[in-house]
Amino acid sequence: MSSTSKYIIEVKIDVIKTLKLLGITAGALTAIGLGTYYIHQRIQRSKRVILRDEVKHVLEPFELTDEQLRRVMANLNTEMINSLKSDGDIDKNDLGMFPTYVHRGPNGQETGEYLVVDLGGSNFRVSHVVIEGRNRINLKNKIFLIPHSLLLGEGERLFDYIAECLQRFIDDNGLNLNKPVDYTFDLAFTFSFPCNQTSLSQATLVSWTKGFSCTGVVGHDVVLMLQQAIDRRKSLKIQVVALVNDTVGTLMACSSIYRDCKVGVILGTGTNACYFENIENVPKWTGVRNQTTKQVVINTEWGALGKHACLDFIRTSIDRELDESSLTPNQQVFEKMISALYLGEIVRLIIVDLVQRSILLPGRMHKSPSLGRDYNIFLSLRGSFYAKHVADIECDTTEDLSVTSLILTSIGIQEPSYDDCYIIREVCKTVSLRASRLAAAAIAVLVNRVNLPSVTVGIDGTLFRHHGKFKKNLTRTLSRLVPRTHRLVLSEDGSSKGSALVAAVHRYTNEIATSS
Ligand code: GLC
Repeated sequence: MSSTSKYIIEVKIDVIKTLKLLGITAGALTAIGLGTYYIHQRIQRSKRVILRDEVKHVLEPFELTDEQLRRVMANLNTEMINSLKSDGDIDKNDLGMFPTYVHRGPNGQETGEYLVVDLGGSNFRVSHVVIEGRNRINLKNKIFLIPHSLLLGEGERLFDYIAECLQRFIDDNGLNLNKPVDYTFDLAFTFSFPCNQTSLSQATLVSWTKGFSCTGVVGHDVVLMLQQAIDRRKSLKIQVVALVNDTVGTLMACSSIYRDCKVGVILGTGTNACYFENIENVPKWTGVRNQTTKQVVINTEWGALGKHACLDFIRTSIDRELDESSLTPNQQVFEKMISALYLGEIVRLIIVDLVQRSILLPGRMHKSPSLGRDYNIFLSLRGSFYAKHVADIECDTTEDLSVTSLILTSIGIQEPSYDDCYIIREVCKTVSLRASRLAAAAIAVLVNRVNLPSVTVGIDGTLFRHHGKFKKNLTRTLSRLVPRTHRLVLSEDGSSKGSALVAAVHRYTNEIATSS
């Protein structure tokens, strides 16, 4: 045997020995690892069970039974009937139930060019809409940011800013090109706040909602205010022809596609709904009653439900805390349990509660904020947790809850443990489930009220479009609450297209009336 082959054999033997050794070591290590993991899991699990019981206790009041939901339905229905009778005195009734002067959906024959201004959500939008017949609608729009100071400042300045944006939009898109010198645009004003309408183009703001709070607007005709701001700019030739709540826009956009669409719902920054009601059921209606106006769309303003305590049986101490520190205490009680503007804050308040009970982030409550980024800042900052965080955490299916951990770290909760993440995910799921179930109960009331063999409900808003399991939970609950055939449809661009359709239906009806 040559020295080289001997060396190879020795090397081979060494390799086999080494592999054997490695195998044994790996096996032993795996066994130790598995054992440790198993013991760790046992400890974690038993720890979590204890934690879960305390957490359950805090979350229990947020878990609504079907029986409670049915009671919400009954109360909403009663409030609706009472408010349809009254003269819109919001001090006596919870709901506005405002007749909107919209009497029918589009029939496909409406045409024309319209501008739409949409104020009321997280953004302010200007649109140019060209309607060429059934389902042939072209839309161009631009979103403008509203400086925060304008939302809380003097109303006239807000309307001047809207007129300025309209001017920019028209100029940037060359909309005036090839138009006769005296051409006047018809404009639909999507204004998503409670308004008492006395015609399609006369509407007094009853109160601000959703964090808006400009002075000098409540009690005034907002159509007139917008028209005056437009007229202050001599180069603008625009006539405001209709005021449209976003729910009504949603309903109109959807009913241009689905003939049985009789309900429009918004589940977004705020929540609200409208529906077609028979005029004979509206004692407070003072407008025309004839063959062509058998129905009118009612803007319910259901977000205000609970003003006179009819929701007290399900309100939690957290709901009250949120309400008391809001811009509008004791208003929009129902909306504050459901809509995107408030979901994050409800979760934040529960987290604070759990921290104070030493269930979450144990032992770290007293860390000084002066040490830099600190979870205390998050804990004490109202509005620092968003609905988007709730949605993302609720849908976190990663094994180590890394999505939740990342979100929590990004807002200043440093090094959250697995248990912290787990509990916070439970909180998000519960709060969002409650919101979707309450929304389902409210929609059920309208589906029943419309009382047709089948009803389509047009829905728009971030919660329905993007928010985790919201749509699924809503749909599931609604099916249990209303056996009647119904369909939920996402309404695309409702507040622009739909509002333009309101203006178009109005123009078409006038043309028919003058030609006959
Ligand atoms: C608020 C407004 C209401 C609007 C809803 C959705 O509840 O009061 O008019 O429809 O938000 O934007």
